[in-house]
Amino acid sequence: MEGLHYVWEQVGAHTGVWTVGATLLAVLTGWLLWSTTAVPTRNPPVPPGSFGWPLVGETLDQLDAAKANQVVKFYATRVAKYGEVFRTHFLFNPAVSMGAPEGNKFLFGNENKLVQNSWPGPVTRLLGKNSLTVLVGEEHKRARRVYTTFFNPEGLQASLPRIEAIVRRHAAEYWEGKDQILGVPTAKEFAFTVAADLFMSMDNHDPLYRLFAQAHEEFVTGFFKIPIYLPGSAPSLTKEEGINPPHDLLNVMLTVPYENDSFMTDDAIKDNILLMMTASHDTSSTTIAFVLKYLYLNPECLKEVIREQLAIAKDKRADAAVTWEDTKNMKYTWRAIQETMRLQPPVQAGFRRAIKDFEFGGFSIPKGWTLIWSVARSHMSPKFFPDPEKFDPSRFEGSGPPPYVFIPFGGGPHICLGNEFARLEMLLFLHHIVLNYEWEMVDPNEQVSITPVTHFKKGLELILRKRRFE
Ligand SMILES: *[C@@H]1O[C@H](CO)[C@@H](O)[C@H](O)[C@H]1NC(C)=O
Repeated sequence: MEGLHYVWEQVGAHTGVWTVGATLLAVLTGWLLWSTTAVPTRNPPVPPGSFGWPLVGETLDQLDAAKANQVVKFYATRVAKYGEVFRTHFLFNPAVSMGAPEGNKFLFGNENKLVQNSWPGPVTRLLGKNSLTVLVGEEHKRARRVYTTFFNPEGLQASLPRIEAIVRRHAAEYWEGKDQILGVPTAKEFAFTVAADLFMSMDNHDPLYRLFAQAHEEFVTGFFKIPIYLPGSAPSLTKEEGINPPHDLLNVMLTVPYENDSFMTDDAIKDNILLMMTASHDTSSTTIAFVLKYLYLNPECLKEVIREQLAIAKDKRADAAVTWEDTKNMKYTWRAIQETMRLQPPVQAGFRRAIKDFEFGGFSIPKGWTLIWSVARSHMSPKFFPDPEKFDPSRFEGSGPPPYVFIPFGGGPHICLGNEFARLEMLLFLHHIVLNYEWEMVDPNEQVSITPVTHFKKGLELILRKRRFE
């Protein structure tokens, strides 16, 4: 059920309630749709494969694979049997998986021409119809432009000192003087603090913060109960009067108009601020937790990260700020993060829907079918990543892997809006953590599963010590 994982990552559901509900829904809807999913006859034929069990297609197989963190096996066995393009059945719909890089390139390059970003109905309702994730075509493009004021390089440079201040506060509160921590909840706390502060200027000591964080964990029940305070409608600033430099994402959403000079509606702001909170914090925190794991298990890589960060810190006073230039020099650290996202992508897959009949790889793809782009399928391919299980940041040296095979942020017009923000946040975090703390995994083999949120069985137990340099 790795596609669902994407959904979960997006909406941040962390309770079993949703899982049970979704399973029931899957079974019911699967049964309804099965009667209409006989294999259609086309010329050329539709891709080979199996629709699997009648009720839920192959969704259960995918769920099992994900649970064991073996998504890649689900794909490997089918590619071996059917070839690079095969059909399956996912979430009540016939679906096709295509190989990297051609398949990914095709899907990302044909957005709005042959395919469109697509979510199952319940997800759309959950995220809200104004959510940037569910918007398509021109509407998506226009909405997306508003956010670039915050996520472009100038916006990120303005955010940097604020993120760094949060890293320092977070370390003082959650790492300093501790003998043992749980890596996953700690990373989540950090990423949520960053998102709340940078997106809404909400401090982690604000009474609303806990409520918000809890609601987040409980999602469906809690999420929509939180009264989000929106200070009236957008201020009627004209361009001549000038807009103050936006200090957080909410402010950008309130004050930056669309091209037609109208502002985002309150509903749109509400849908999207929640989306941004969720999308940014679950993904970054998952990656941070896994970086801690892989650096611990690969001491020679950790040494290299420390060497790089020491070089950046060495001419500074202890309290001096990291600059934008410094983050550009964190090349090895970034490669270690990339390699982490390759092995354990925080978002496992995404979907497109065929908006017309087309051919791909010598097969017919009927209109209405789902196209799945699986990150694991690309990232674990021995063709592009020899010895794929091995953690090896050097894979990203030089020009790195070929285009359309390393796709942790997706691609095309829907590519992750916050990828540079995430990069900045993770680099600043690592800078301060590796220079100040040593950590040791209590259980280096701690089990990881995707159910469908990626998690460590015991939350990644870490033993901490202050790092001292001789
Ligand atoms: C202005 O553009 C936005 C974004 O495309 C759209 O949602 C809104 O309806 C438009 N407003 C008017 C008054 O045309």
